[in-house]
Amino acid sequence: MKAGRAASSGKAHATRHRPGRDRRPGPVVEPIGGGPAEVIGRIDLSVELAPGLRLDNPILVASGTFGYGIEYGDVVDVQRLGAICCKGTTLKPRIGNVTPRVTETPAGMLNSIGLQNPGVDAVIERYAPTWAGWQVPVIVNVAGESVEDYVEVARRLEGVPGVAGIELNISCPNVGKGGLQFAIDADAAGAVTAAVRRATDLPLLVKLSPNVADVRPIAKAIEKAGADAITAINTLSGIAVRPDRSRPLLGNIYGGLSGPAVKPVALRIVYEVAQVVDIPIVAIGGVSELADALDYFAVGACAVQVGTAVFADPTLPIRIIDGLEAECRRRGFDSFRPLIGTALPRKPGASSAKGVEYRP
Ligand SMILES: Cc1cc2nc3c(=O)[nH]c(=O)nc-3n(C[C@H](O)[C@H](O)[C@H](O)COP(=O)(O)O)c2cc1C
Repeated sequence: MKAGRAASSGKAHATRHRPGRDRRPGPVVEPIGGGPAEVIGRIDLSVELAPGLRLDNPILVASGTFGYGIEYGDVVDVQRLGAICCKGTTLKPRIGNVTPRVTETPAGMLNSIGLQNPGVDAVIERYAPTWAGWQVPVIVNVAGESVEDYVEVARRLEGVPGVAGIELNISCPNVGKGGLQFAIDADAAGAVTAAVRRATDLPLLVKLSPNVADVRPIAKAIEKAGADAITAINTLSGIAVRPDRSRPLLGNIYGGLSGPAVKPVALRIVYEVAQVVDIPIVAIGGVSELADALDYFAVGACAVQVGTAVFADPTLPIRIIDGLEAECRRRGFDSFRPLIGTALPRKPGASSAKGVEYRP
């Protein structure tokens, strides 16, 4: 385990951290007759994903599953979320793939939406003014087919009020490399990250694909190229077949598998990546209850995104936030940081990069 930056390092620079809303940890009250000491008052759930991107809590919603946040305003108090990762955004508008584009699978779903979106200029015009009035940070998920695409989208987002950061979706075919995904090649992943890093000062998160033999060199290349944080994972490549077996079911043939079915894969990837990078990791994959978030914290994530499960219950992320606070209180923690990294391999004498000290 590498020693390095703590998950929530408390750096001074924090544009999204509003002083009036600071959560000061509450006092710990020792119960009569033993047992864990329950914390009275505020629990510190805040987490810093990047300089300038401090979240009030570590529960985000995943790209492609929460629209632009605005659609859910009547159903959920979106301001309580840690952050919103909006739909994948490209330089030009995209109509997406041919239908059918989604199908249910055991413990999950396959989608081949194909990055349908109105393009970055329309996103800036239609949604950013609303985001600018929100306290919840909105992270724009960015996709492209060339390094130049990513850079141009990042440039246009730079300085736009309401845009709190960028999450690079690098699971896209790289036209310059004959359709090879950026996400499956360490050099390509590093190159696109470095180019976007040079183009913008916005907090930069880069999202890993699980569709590789070993994700660790890719994660290291992304860190070296200047990403502030890693998000993991995007969907797993899969297909379904029509009931009459005449052809694959999805119009695009291939789709991305998500939901509880992918959680063990995502958990393994977060576990592996946490041991080779020092930047914060945001876990994604099948989070459908508090226990899933706790598992991801245990393997080194400092935040999680809720995706597919939001379709069934848009209030789930808020319930997980409440559950996390209650869990910390019950266990006598005045912050959630002691939950991070507890299931990572222990190296005697090494201090953890993830906010916990290893015990011999
Ligand atoms: C319908 C749908 C659309 C998605 N669109 C995007 C997208 O535009 N960009 C992206 O990076 N990930 C996208 N994803 C992937 C999710 O953000 C997430 O990484 C993945 O679904 C795993 O999390 P989950 O199991 O909680 O859904 C999409 C997922 C679904 C189900």
